[in-house]
Amino acid sequence: MSVRVAVLASGSGTNLQALLDANLSPARVEIVAVNVPGAQAIERAARAGVPSFVLDHRGFSTRADFDRALADRLVSSGVDWVVLAGFMRILGPAFLARFPDRVLNIHPSLLPAFPGLDGPGQAHAAGVKLAGCTVHLVDEGVDSGPILAQAAVPVRAQDSSDDLRRRILAEEHQLLPKVVRAAAEGRLRRDGPRAWLVGLEGEDPPVTGGVD
Ligand code: GRF
Repeated sequence: MSVRVAVLASGSGTNLQALLDANLSPARVEIVAVNVPGAQAIERAARAGVPSFVLDHRGFSTRADFDRALADRLVSSGVDWVVLAGFMRILGPAFLARFPDRVLNIHPSLLPAFPGLDGPGQAHAAGVKLAGCTVHLVDEGVDSGPILAQAAVPVRAQDSSDDLRRRILAEEHQLLPKVVRAAAEGRLRRDGPRAWLVGLEGEDPPVTGGVD
């Protein structure tokens, strides 16, 4: 019995493609939802034989109406997890309440640094020496939910912001499938605002004691 995953996208869908190309077992991408007509993510779903639909947020008078309509579609599809992969809408309580602790987002910065738009551009402008990406549980804030996993990349003096964006994106494509698989296997643990995935490299708490 596979764990049914919906992927939400708004644009090119390279993170969606990484999920479609990966062995996500026991998870499976069952449906793709896009809020922007003509987004390349739709073609990627079609090529992979995955059903998709467009729900244009501009057709709704309030955010809550859009959130409810989107959640209704996904609930009726029997979705267990929702993965935001380049999805450029903030989802509010009308959506999140339908998938408690089951919505993941990937963001191209080492949160809580550089939330919001253009994380790589913010990091490049700030002159940081390490940048990266974060997968987190989605809460009602902007890129503010409990962090599940991160990957870091070096920032080099000669990098343009596009160089950095590309380097981060390549890490996103590695990290997101690992997190989705681990979450589907039930390895997510929460401790208030902190969360982690058991068995994902680097998340085991350090062994204490044994002072030499
Ligand atoms: C990615 O960096 C993602 O983290 C951000 O949007 C960028 C494009 O994602 N939210 P994709 O190529 O559409 O997956």
